Order: sequence, then structure tokens, then C-alpha cells
Amino acid sequence: MRAAVVAGLGAWLPPRVVTNDELTARLDTTDEWIRSRIGVVTRHVVEPGMATSDLSVEAARRALRSAGVPGAGGVILATTTPDRPCPATAPEIASRLGLDGVPAFDIAAVCTGFVYGLGVGAGLITSGIVDSLIVIGGDAYSTILNPQDRTTSVIFGDGAGAVVLRAGSADEPGALGPFDLGSDGELSDLITVPAGGSRQRSSRGIVPHGDKFFQMEGREVFANAVARMSASSRNAIKRQGWVASDVDRVIAHQANTRILDAVSAELEVPRDKFISNITDVGNTSAASIPLALAHGVRSGELQPGHKVLLTAFGGGLTWGATTLTWPTLSLAE
Ligand code: COA
Repeated sequence: MRAAVVAGLGAWLPPRVVTNDELTARLDTTDEWIRSRIGVVTRHVVEPGMATSDLSVEAARRALRSAGVPGAGGVILATTTPDRPCPATAPEIASRLGLDGVPAFDIAAVCTGFVYGLGVGAGLITSGIVDSLIVIGGDAYSTILNPQDRTTSVIFGDGAGAVVLRAGSADEPGALGPFDLGSDGELSDLITVPAGGSRQRSSRGIVPHGDKFFQMEGREVFANAVARMSASSRNAIKRQGWVASDVDRVIAHQANTRILDAVSAELEVPRDKFISNITDVGNTSAASIPLALAHGVRSGELQPGHKVLLTAFGGGLTWGATTLTWPTLSLAE
């Protein structure tokens, strides 16, 4: 059976590192609070002038080199921070990669974007519309955070990760398994940038200062993230024909170490099977899962043959999960 197979992986972080100490110098917070409540110690951020496409092109180039191929048949970018509201950022990325004429579009599913992107990409490949694709999760959250808001500024970081998907068969390593994807728009206010869209236009009138920035109801998001990622993971595991104890590694959206602890307990998958890099990079939204995959390959925690569960949760609300057996691949720096 035709399937979408992970053939290459790339990651890129902007060079500038922001420490907790740098944040505590300007916000009413402490290193201890950030470490214990969220689990973040450093995060990378873009310099002024650097945009999501710049991060994404670097990650995609590395993914192509990892796959050993010069190009791909399309580009999907999952992002909440496109270079501009219009047009989508993916076509510019495709052109900068030398992929002129390929289908290229953005997906807006906030922190679930990469899993949604894999699902859409798998659909395009299994239906025969394309034979290969680059799926990128790229975000520059520092560009939408309110620098005065201690509840969000300490959590997020910038970065991009990408995979190359190619057509292959469902029984080979790297083949993406069944997907579980979902949403609940009743809770769309829990994670939002209120202004700048067609509801609260930035082109007319005066927009309240805070409404231009990312806002989040932390406690409710926390509870929903645990419940949704756990339920979605269970569905994806079941559809693949596995049970929880079959899972060797979990790459869950790096939202918060306490969320990872709670999902581990809910799923009854031991915490040491969860790969995590949130300490070093923070919550990088759509980039979170591919950056954690790259961390797993680099550290040796993720090995060929491992049965892997991917799961994410984000604004929308949105959530999703899928499975794969990790293939043999190397990272390109
Ligand atoms: N430094 C110090 N204190 C802070 C703080 C910070 N950076 N941010 C919030 N606080 C304070 C709050 O003001 C509150 O004070 P109060 O009790 O005097 O009102 C106290 O800490 C507890 O706030 P609360 O929001 O209840 O904390 P929490 O334990 O829920 O932790 C989050 C806050 C944001 C870390 C937590 O809710 C969380 O991780 N939510 C999920 C966020 C997330 O992962 N989002 C991405 C999902 S895609």
C-alpha cells in the first residue's frame, strides 16, 4: 500500500540565546519559577529582520541534505507567524529552495501545525497528487509575544524543523501511520492573537495594545493539552494496531515539562520514553516536534526501529497524533 515515508530531517535555531536571567532582569519572574513551572532554561530568538521563512529555509535545506535529494515536489509550512498576513510564506520558501512551480501553502493549526502538516502531506502523497514533499514547522513566536507579559514571554522560543516525505510502502520504516486529528473551536479564545484579522481589523481604528499580541489562558490550556494529547495518542496507537507498551519513544509537543509528565501518566508510557529538549529551546510551537526529533537523533535517544508516537496540541483548539517506526537517517548540519 502506498504511504508517505519520512526520508530526511532538518532543524535550525536562530543563534541568539535568551537565558532566564535575561528575562528576570526585565520581568517580575524568577529563574526558579520558570524552571519549576515550565522547565525552560534557555530559548533561541530571531534578531530584528529575521523572519519565519529564514528559519524554515535553513531547516528545509538540512532536511533535503539528510534525505540525499536535491528537491521535493511541494512545500507545506505549518506556522502561526508567517512572514506577512498575505501571501502565504511557503511559496517564498519553495522558491528560495529552487523548487519553482511546486505546490506550496501554509497551514494554521498553531502548535499542532506540524502534525496537521504531516497528515495533509501524507494525504497528498498517498493520493498520488505528489511523490514527495517538504513539511516544515517554523515559528518566530518572539515576534508576536508581548514583551511585558510574564505569563507568555518565559515560555516560547523561535526555530524551525522540517522533514522530507517521499512515496513508499506502508510496511517500510519511516512510513507514517494512521492519523488522529481534531479541533474544538468553542475554546478558540484560550490561545489567541485577537487583532489583525478580519474580526478586529488592524487597518481601521485603534487596536487595544495587548490585542496585537499572543494571549493564553494558561491553566485551562494546561488541562486541555493533557486531555487532548492523551486521547489523541490513544486513538493513533489503537489505529496502528499497537498498545501503549509497544511505544518505544514519544515525541509530544514541547509545551511544558509538567504537561509531558501528565501525558506520560495518563498514557501509562514511562516518562523516560519521552524525548524532550524544552529546557534548551522552550516551546517552539509548530517547530517543536521536528526540533525534538532532531534532538533525539543527535543525542542517540531515537534509534532506527523505535516505534514512535508523535502528538501535539495547540490553539484552535487543535490536536493530533500519528505513529511511525523510526527509519535510518542522519542529520545534516
Ligand atoms: N513568573 C512568576 N509568576 C508568574 C509567572 C511568571 N513568569 N507567570 C504567572 N505567574 C504567577 C501568576 O500570576 C499567579 O500568581 P497569583 O497566584 O498571585 O495569581 C501564579 O504565578 C500562578 O499562576 P497560574 O497561571 O495558576 O500558574 P500555573 O501553575 O498554571 O502555571 C503556566 C502557568 C502558564 C506555566 C501553566 O498554566 C501552563 O504551563 N499552561 C500551559 C501553557 C502552555 O504550555 N501553552 C502552550 C500550549 S500549546
